[in-house]
Amino acid sequence: MKNIEDLLQQEHFSRQDLIQLLQTDIIDRNKIYAKAAEIKTKYVGNKVYYRGLVEFSNKCIKDCYYCGIRASNSNTVRYDLSDESVLYAVKYAYENNYASVVFQSGERQDKAFVKRITNLLRESKKVTNNEIGITISLGEQSREVYQEWFDAGAHRYLLRIESSNRELFEQIHPKNERHLFETRMKALYDLQDIGYQTGSGVMIGLPFQTVEHLADDLLFFKNFGIDMVGMGPYVEHSQTPLYRFQNQLLPQVERFNLTLKMIALLRIIMKDINIAAATALQAIDKAGREKALKVGANIIMPNITPTENRSNYLLYENKPCIDESADDCSHCLEARIHLAGDSVGYNEWGDSWHYKKRVI
Ligand code: 5AD
Ligand code: FES
Repeated sequence: MKNIEDLLQQEHFSRQDLIQLLQTDIIDRNKIYAKAAEIKTKYVGNKVYYRGLVEFSNKCIKDCYYCGIRASNSNTVRYDLSDESVLYAVKYAYENNYASVVFQSGERQDKAFVKRITNLLRESKKVTNNEIGITISLGEQSREVYQEWFDAGAHRYLLRIESSNRELFEQIHPKNERHLFETRMKALYDLQDIGYQTGSGVMIGLPFQTVEHLADDLLFFKNFGIDMVGMGPYVEHSQTPLYRFQNQLLPQVERFNLTLKMIALLRIIMKDINIAAATALQAIDKAGREKALKVGANIIMPNITPTENRSNYLLYENKPCIDESADDCSHCLEARIHLAGDSVGYNEWGDSWHYKKRVI
């Protein structure tokens, strides 16, 4: 065991160092948080960038064991926003100086879907004077499809690895061709190679997950050279197969604290990446996202999905803000960001510095 102060002075961290840091108690935990806050200020500054999140459809062909909108969940009322509604949300983001949007939906790979997205990307640029930054989070696709969407205007892609440990990945997904660890990994490499700012992430506090797995996740992000990360606590959903392991889970507060530690450690080992304060944090603690900002996160994704559909996009239970309009959300959010000691980077894309350095 190393002394925590010495450990935090290091430039490089071994797997064993990360495991030790993930296991720290409350007093030492605060030292990790302080170090992460210092690094955040120094390397990416205290501006938080918004990505207006449009969850435009919950139709999904996959069946992930943890996810509330999995294809087999017949209790979910399926919706698909019209192009008009999506573009309305894009304009809302633009007019409110958000500078970027994220399009997220359940996974689909059919031709009609691919074309629709290509068209939406082009239209989104058109209605915003070519200025809006677009992140997409639309699952696993072929390299050609990723290229088509890149050419149509998307420049960032979020695809969580969920767990970088193959065995754990396989435990939380059905064992079939649609849910392969290799496919997920190849997709991430394709995205990076095409030139996307590439984002990934994991869930924290999954059944069967250990601190060793989490240390490996941090090293995976580092070795892959990821530009952006969004990771949040696993929040059980009663209509999913993983729910039967709920008795084996860490209490929610501990999952939350472990997530904050993961964010802080990630900021320490990857100083210049963008780290999102995931919405799932807020499902456990009302001030969850602001707490994440204090320990290293610098991106927030305010939900700007038109409200009538929000309650159907339930990946997990207790999802916050499903009754509020986009306006309510952004006003209370800005105040909370100021309380966390940050300001909002309005009208700025806030691209990942890690990406900018990588592509020079
Ligand atoms: N708890 C927390 N996060 C979840 N996600 C899906 N289901 C859950 C859950 N039950 C996350 C996954 C996915 C992202 C869109 O939402 O990590 O990649
Ligand atoms: Fe839809 Fe996992 S359940 S992608």
